[in-house]
Amino acid sequence: MFGAELGIALDYRAIEADRDRFAHALDAFAREGGRGANVTLPLKQDALALCAEASARAQRCASVNTLIRDGDTWRGDSTDGSGLLRDLRGRHEFDPHGRSVALIGAGGAARAVAFALADAGVARLVIANRTPERARELANAVGSTSIATAWEDLSRAGAFDLVVHATAAGHASASFELPRSLVTPRTLCYDLSYGAAANAFVQWSRSAGATRASDGLGMLVEQAAESFALWFGRTPDTAPVFAELRRAQSASMADD
Ligand code: ATR
Repeated sequence: MFGAELGIALDYRAIEADRDRFAHALDAFAREGGRGANVTLPLKQDALALCAEASARAQRCASVNTLIRDGDTWRGDSTDGSGLLRDLRGRHEFDPHGRSVALIGAGGAARAVAFALADAGVARLVIANRTPERARELANAVGSTSIATAWEDLSRAGAFDLVVHATAAGHASASFELPRSLVTPRTLCYDLSYGAAANAFVQWSRSAGATRASDGLGMLVEQAAESFALWFGRTPDTAPVFAELRRAQSASMADD
């Protein structure tokens, strides 16, 4: 869709590769003339290891979602964190500067957004994760604005301006319990997943009293636009693409 918008012909398609075959699949893609790729879960860390060079932000969050062919090697970058910030600021009119944020989860996706939120100047970033060591490790890596809290202590953490859900629980249809005290009517609740995977958190947010709860479709579109700009040197307009994907998503939910 971005290519069509800017008059750039490209062939962008999905290649399925499990962890064992990832390096091989990427080699084969390059041999066929592949110039760039997006990498998604759970291969973002593996992608970093396959890069000859990676941006500072990709190295810091140990995650690569964008590969750019440079001669006969790959250069890696991570556009997830900035994609979230662009969606928050653009579509949700939420500037993270000076705000309090609860980050639920400490895996690859959480890592990318934790650093981006810290760079955006959040006043307080509280990280909770099912496995508490991972939350502690991430909070230490992010620095002084960030602290880890045990899941069972979240109920004493107070309310937040932004609650970001970054666990894989929605993908596994697992249920999860979060304290309602995290949320006030002014809290923006945001799930990094989109579509059905975000439903449980979005529903929980509304039942906890949040008037603004969103899935991560906007982040998906924004991180993709930034990848596109890395490949082609031109930044597409994301509004029509977001509208079309939202429309398609609503239509498929209505069909279900
Ligand atoms: P991703 O790149 O999607 O973040 P990941 O690195 O495997 O993938 O991390 C998945 C995240 O979802 C982790 O925070 C994980 O918690 P653990 O560190 O304890 O594994 C979290 N997660 C997965 N299933 C969960 C569940 N049922 N309840 C709560 N957290 C869950």
